[in-house]
Amino acid sequence: MLANGVLWALLCSSCQPDQSNPLRISKTMEKESMARMGELVRECRVCHGVEEAQRGPILDGMEYWYLYDQLQKFRSGIRGQNPENRSEHLMGIGIKKLQNDLESSYLADWFARQDPKPAVRTVRGDAERGKLFYEARCASCHGENAEGNRLLAGPALNRLEGWYFLEQMRKFRSDERGYHPLDETGRMMAAASKGIADSTLKDVVAYIVNTYGPEDEPTMFERMVPGKSPKPF
Ligand code: HEC
Ligand code: HEC
Repeated sequence: MLANGVLWALLCSSCQPDQSNPLRISKTMEKESMARMGELVRECRVCHGVEEAQRGPILDGMEYWYLYDQLQKFRSGIRGQNPENRSEHLMGIGIKKLQNDLESSYLADWFARQDPKPAVRTVRGDAERGKLFYEARCASCHGENAEGNRLLAGPALNRLEGWYFLEQMRKFRSDERGYHPLDETGRMMAAASKGIADSTLKDVVAYIVNTYGPEDEPTMFERMVPGKSPKPF
């Protein structure tokens, strides 16, 4: 083996490490990417923040592997290239800011480590009926307690805000998500969503969000008039 290596080095002097060595390039890329991370997180937060103007889902506390997979799907165009799906298309714009796998990996890790954020409860439904339906049709891939099932690529559903949860279910059902031939896991989920009535979707969303979902965000009124504060008179 050693002799082989020496022979190779003698025959091929241009194969010696030099400035164009891919390893060095990736080290430079790594440095540049790390330097950009703070800025990138801020850019993601414009749409994925908790402020009122937020247009994307809250990502804080989602699983690393799921976030990473989705980012790679957006990067490769398996998700986010359907102009009919306007919000996905928006994210198709957001993803252009990422330059390499390392950045997907860093951002997935960053968001996965954040504490879950409280969310306003927006979807109402019959939680009892939702529970029965969830156990029969969803739990096998997403876990009894919506904690996710990585073996079947089913993400946890306990970080989702009601509005986003419902919207994604409708998108899977209408083939606006999970339509790409290479989107295997998306298509699996799309198949699982077919034919479910809107009222049943609301029941399931209400059940999961109320039972396992993010903490309830107090409304503006509740924030201004705290329930337990002593009367000033
Ligand atoms: C212009 C607004 C915008 C920007 C900027 C943006 N996003 Fe998004 N993102 C969205 C929207 C809207 C969705 C929801 C897409 C849908 O409805 O399917 C989304 C979806 C996602 C999802 C999928 C979540 C899920 O539950 O499946 C991930 C992950 C994500 N964004 C990560 C990021 C990261 C990381 C950045 C920063 C590089 C970023 N986004 C920048 C708007 C944006
Ligand atoms: C056969 C397995 C399977 C079944 C059954 C299933 N899912 Fe899924 N689900 C998945 C997979 C896999 C994904 C990830 C899709 C992707 O990678 O884009 C997913 C994704 C989702 C998402 C998107 C989460 C996000 O952050 O955007 C929601 C919401 C969801 N499922 C809800 C449900 C509900 C509710 C049911 C029951 C009606 C259900 N699923 C049944 C496998 C399944």
